[in-house]
Amino acid sequence: MNAPLRLADLTARTILDSRGYPTLEARARLADGTMLRAAVPAGASTGAHEAVELRDHDEAYSGRGVRAAVAGVHERIAPLLTGHDWPDLASLDRALAQADGTGDYSRLGANAVVAVSMLAARGFAHAAGLSLHEWIARASGARERLPVPHFNVLNGGAHAANDLEFQEFMIAPVAAGSEENAVRIGAEVYHALAALVRRRFGSAGLGDEGGFAPPVSDPRAALDLLVEAITDAGYPPGVGQVAIALDPAANSFHLGDGRYRINGIELDRTGLVDYYLGLLEDYPIRSLEDGFAEDDPGGWIALAGAAGGRVQLVGDDLYVTDPARIRAGFEAGYSDAALIKPNQIGTVSQTLEAIRTAHELGMACMISHRSGETWDPFIADLAVGTGAGQLKSGAPARGERVAKYNRLTEIELDHPGLPYGVQ
Ligand code: PGA
Ligand code: ZN
Repeated sequence: MNAPLRLADLTARTILDSRGYPTLEARARLADGTMLRAAVPAGASTGAHEAVELRDHDEAYSGRGVRAAVAGVHERIAPLLTGHDWPDLASLDRALAQADGTGDYSRLGANAVVAVSMLAARGFAHAAGLSLHEWIARASGARERLPVPHFNVLNGGAHAANDLEFQEFMIAPVAAGSEENAVRIGAEVYHALAALVRRRFGSAGLGDEGGFAPPVSDPRAALDLLVEAITDAGYPPGVGQVAIALDPAANSFHLGDGRYRINGIELDRTGLVDYYLGLLEDYPIRSLEDGFAEDDPGGWIALAGAAGGRVQLVGDDLYVTDPARIRAGFEAGYSDAALIKPNQIGTVSQTLEAIRTAHELGMACMISHRSGETWDPFIADLAVGTGAGQLKSGAPARGERVAKYNRLTEIELDHPGLPYGVQ
């Protein structure tokens, strides 16, 4: 099944992401004339151990230009990859890692490397006569599944200008039965929430991921809005129905030494665990991501001890899609799920390895976008092909977010009978 890949005319260019900052798009041609493209997203609340993006740090775009990363594709990566056959993606990705030579992609830039690796995955799929999600399923030995979309409809933290410390309030139609129905539920709840926010606050400003950013600072006030919007839209709030998922992204309100501040109140580890237990008691929350900071293992262990089994605990900044960190975190008892973002680790092969590692350990995976996104729906195919069962891609609105959800419904249309739901 693994037809070799031969790339020609590999180039990269600067495009704008959804925040209006530069990012990288890679392009290449196959022997049959097919043009391949891939674009890389960018985070705002990045983990300390993520693969390193190359940014120019000069006068252009407040230092966020990617000219050096683009030049690296032309001068270093294209001569390495083009003009001869690659037997498989793993060897191509290994060659990228060797050419970079740093272990964290800081020479070529993870932004350049992940764009080229995504493009190459598309090339291998095309060479094998498969769509991307089918090729990913074969490459990873997984059974395909349509994921439950986690719509981030209310934004705070590093993604919004309000005083809400928690970053993401998501709704997850776990019992929707189909992707089409899940998208419909997500959009209807989003519009019910828009009406609610407008009624109550007079306006409905947005955060980076397209969710509303009302002027609230208490996470409970945000959760009340969510439950009311789900009900207004005519759906039952419930962990097995239309559930809530949270990403507090606790790095951003960690004061240090296991102390945190939420809504003006300072909490130690026990205080924060109790705070989360109270939320689980009062709201239908199925998933809690980065409830503690990446450098606070004691907090993670305390949370897992108190809430493990009652709610999915997801490590994002904690694991940064790194197979070794995921394994170590599982063995230490931090969490039972990993967030998966290809540009945290740098290549598609390493991303697939992270998912395989998590699944072999019995951990769940949630595939994720970044807060700065592009037209590229790669992660939709990644979610289906790895059978991960969960995907988060922001609000059910704005082009860069709906590109992913609309790709999921396209895959469902083309492959009737694919199962839907969390594993
Ligand atoms: P980021 O955040 O893309 O801004 O890093 C997303 C997340 O924390 O899940
Ligand atoms: Zn996160």
